[in-house]
Amino acid sequence: MDEAKLGELPQLPADAVLRHADLVTGRKPKPIELYQRWERQQWSAEELSLGRDHDMLHHPRLPESVRVMLKEAIATFIIGEYTGLDMLGPILTGCPDEEYALFLGTQIADETRHARAVFRLGEEVLEMPENPRAMLAEAWNIVTPAHKELSLLETRIVQDLAARPLDYGQWLQACTLFHLITEGVLALIGQRALVHSLRDVNMFNGIKSAFIAMCRDESRHISFGLHALRTGIQEGYADHIYEVLEQAVPLALRMDTEFESGNDREEARIREMSVDILRRHLGNIGADHKFVAHLTDPYDLRLARQ
Ligand SMILES: [Fe+2]
Ligand SMILES: [Fe+2]
Repeated sequence: MDEAKLGELPQLPADAVLRHADLVTGRKPKPIELYQRWERQQWSAEELSLGRDHDMLHHPRLPESVRVMLKEAIATFIIGEYTGLDMLGPILTGCPDEEYALFLGTQIADETRHARAVFRLGEEVLEMPENPRAMLAEAWNIVTPAHKELSLLETRIVQDLAARPLDYGQWLQACTLFHLITEGVLALIGQRALVHSLRDVNMFNGIKSAFIAMCRDESRHISFGLHALRTGIQEGYADHIYEVLEQAVPLALRMDTEFESGNDREEARIREMSVDILRRHLGNIGADHKFVAHLTDPYDLRLARQ
């Protein structure tokens, strides 16, 4: 997974893709190591080959549920990737450390490439308008209400940061929402759900390549966010971070079950995965155990069943 070229990504075992981010974040890499990984993991959004994916998606024999799942996943990422690109400017401007800036420059390049990749999926696979603004408006109508609420919370927190770029607490709050929640839980779960549901299907190789390449990039972005938040907690800023988590976690966990599968067991599985990932990230940054339990236990369906 670390070394594979774009064309090799769809052939990787689904397991390797699904476990990858946990392996990378678990090693707690420093920003400079993440920079070095980035130089080795370049790919091209322009090289994705999408013609066959378009024909498959519009094939009359494709089950409607697969068509709806792909359409919603792509629309969600059209909003998410563009929002990510938009948010990172203030996060780079306000970042407190030179090595952080070096990493965040690479992340802006990644999010630019992701936005281009999902715009191509929207236009060439879903037949959405070519103009990004018109495409974003159409995608906004497809995403779920919780997703919209979280996008608005992101906008507010980033506007606050843009108004006070030297406020470190504010910077950590933007990182909490963007790196830990949006990327660390939602994007990762969305990418994993898609890879999981296409794992036994020998088609949609363009979509698979794009999502697996984005998943690999995400492992670096999340690792960076966890590093920055761990450092923030050690420096006495835990309360800033917890304040955002209190607002964002209920939205994020609601969103997972709204990620339409129309299938209760699948929704329960996704919720459990999200709670587990969130707990792992919070452990990674050294969050207080009692706070973690307060935040996540109410959403743990396994506890509710006991
Ligand atoms: Fe991204
Ligand atoms: Fe990202």
